[in-house]
Amino acid sequence: MSAPEVVEISAADTHPLRLSVLRFDTPTKEVVFPEDTWPGCVHLGLRVDGELVATSSWVPRPLDGRPGVQVRGMATARHLQGTGLGGVLLDTGCQRMADAGHPMVWARARDAALAFYLRHGFTVEGDGFIDEATQLPHHLIVRTLV
Ligand SMILES: CC(C)(COP(=O)(O)OP(=O)(O)OC[C@H]1O[C@@H](n2cnc3c(N)ncnc32)[C@H](O)[C@@H]1OP(=O)(O)O)[C@@H](O)C(=O)NCCC(=O)NCCS
Repeated sequence: MSAPEVVEISAADTHPLRLSVLRFDTPTKEVVFPEDTWPGCVHLGLRVDGELVATSSWVPRPLDGRPGVQVRGMATARHLQGTGLGGVLLDTGCQRMADAGHPMVWARARDAALAFYLRHGFTVEGDGFIDEATQLPHHLIVRTLV
């Protein structure tokens, strides 16, 4: 297995993993997010042995008036989950956002993935809620970059 490489990808490149990882058991099968084409939105993937094995999307978007970047669509190919790849993509993405001058990264995190984000420097803000698209429990999470 070659070393994982973080690469910039297109919105369309994220669709297969969004579908197979994030939308396979949800009421919606929609893999296009309106924010995908917002100004400054960047899609980052992780390539191993030529294969795209994890995806993420980074959308400059304030949270309650605080400047920051929303990370959306974090997905690791199912057979590779729990092997550290998502952590590499998340940390590298946060570093890129810090380098670009963004003070904070935030997300609407699925409760099933909360421990993963907390291990990577995020903290929970506020009460849990049910996400409309997926009907799954979520929390708002924030990681300060500066
Ligand atoms: C959440 C997700 C993106 C994390 O990506 P990942 O590649 O599985 O992440 P990692 O392997 O870095 O870490 C995941 C877990 O494996 C553990 N892990 C990390 N490195 C490991 C390794 N080398 N060997 C075994 N386990 C490892 C971590 O402790 C972590 O445990 P946790 O789930 O209790 O936090 C991925 O699991 C996923 O796609 N899940 C389904 C979709 C989803 O929930 N996306 C997030 C929406 S908000």
